[in-house]
Amino acid sequence: MADTVIRNVSIVDGTGSKMFGGDVVVDEGRIVEVGSATSKCNEEVDGSGLVLAPGFVDVHTHDDGALIQHPGMAFKVSQGCTSVVVGNCGFSAVPAVNGEKTLDLSNIESQWQDLEGYRRVVEAGNVAINSMMLMGHNTIRSLEMKDLRDQPTDKQLESMRQHVKKGMEQGACGLSTGLVYKPGRWSQTEEIIELAKVVNPFEGIYATHMRNENDHLLDAVDEALLIGKEAQVAVQISHHKAAGKANWGKVGASLSKIDAAVAAGMRVTLDVYPYTAGSGPMIQYFNLANPDKELAEAIQLASCPAFREYEGRMLVDIADELGISPADAVVHILTAPEGSKTICIQHVMDEADVITNLEHSLVMIGSDGLPDLEGRPHPRLYGTFPRVLGKYVREQKIVHLEEAVRRMTSLSCDVHGLKERGRVVVGGWADLVLFNPNQIVDMATYEEPQQEAVGVQRVWVNGRSVYENGRHTGVGGGRVLRYNVA
Ligand code: ZN
Ligand code: CU
Repeated sequence: MADTVIRNVSIVDGTGSKMFGGDVVVDEGRIVEVGSATSKCNEEVDGSGLVLAPGFVDVHTHDDGALIQHPGMAFKVSQGCTSVVVGNCGFSAVPAVNGEKTLDLSNIESQWQDLEGYRRVVEAGNVAINSMMLMGHNTIRSLEMKDLRDQPTDKQLESMRQHVKKGMEQGACGLSTGLVYKPGRWSQTEEIIELAKVVNPFEGIYATHMRNENDHLLDAVDEALLIGKEAQVAVQISHHKAAGKANWGKVGASLSKIDAAVAAGMRVTLDVYPYTAGSGPMIQYFNLANPDKELAEAIQLASCPAFREYEGRMLVDIADELGISPADAVVHILTAPEGSKTICIQHVMDEADVITNLEHSLVMIGSDGLPDLEGRPHPRLYGTFPRVLGKYVREQKIVHLEEAVRRMTSLSCDVHGLKERGRVVVGGWADLVLFNPNQIVDMATYEEPQQEAVGVQRVWVNGRSVYENGRHTGVGGGRVLRYNVA
């Protein structure tokens, strides 16, 4: 007797093909039948009126620590996500010094040094979903360089190479950079090319939060493409955007450059989150000696350990109340005790650019959510995937359902090496989401972000039921996957 059958359901198989009706049978973690089911099963699920799709893959996350701190991963499971790619923007939980804080955005105490050690800890923790690691350049550089503004010596560069190599040998999918952040911003293109070359024999990818996403966006795209070309690796452009009013619309020119590179034989893909605000560590965006005024006016506080009462509020309103300028309010917050831990939200993008991204066939969905549950995190943490399916697919008809699902599943899995996942096909892993296409939508807002989406009914990870109509089952069994290994 097989484990589960979902009957009379509309199957969106992840390939982009038109949906079709049928039954899907799951047994021992795999999909064993698609079509008209003959198996008897322990659990019968009625799929009438619902869509069954491959579980969504969040290709851009900072969940490295969350997989350990919040193993139920409720904020992802409730969106229909069954796997996440961690280690983005140059920040990864590996490598680490055992017993010290990790050099990623979660900053938790590590009980590991490398990816194998991290895998042991995560998988021992009853984690609900699967993950795939990128090796973070900022993390590796911070470990190996004493003065972070320096250029690496040959010896330091070799040590950095070894970290990347070890990560790849242990199943990472590639190298990530965050070239606006410290210390990545002090590295030259050549250094990144050298590290990306290490990924080449493993056929891994180079994922980049580019050096610039505003006035010099197009130069930054050129740099990313150059790195991919010189190292002969596939490029993933992270959270593609044009920030700042003066740059709105540049997303089109940027995509044209990428189209040209693809036409010339390069492998380039991108990801986007469906919001017009970004979010990140506030200390990284401001020069305290001269805070950017335009940016200050676009800031909302997400997580502010120094002043919890500021969370969810616009900086301009806080400044008003304090009787100081927004720029001074930036300094006031960042220089307070624990001020450097502040996470902000920047309202700096244009809705038309979000749509241009969503229309493009090479653009996947990635939340870039920051899982700090003590504050008011950017709503993308809880809302990204249902928002695409509700707002942009159903309401605005920007993309077809089948195409949107493809760019949440098979495309994401193929590029990030989640082997035998991302398609509803016999023999594939049973990572599945059952949802109501007429209801699915995000509920998280900037003011009240920690709200689960509606419309997702069931979620299975490796064939196990982790979410049932709003209830998290507490079932674990998620794996830290190895690149291109099933
Ligand atoms: Zn980033
Ligand atoms: Cu990121």
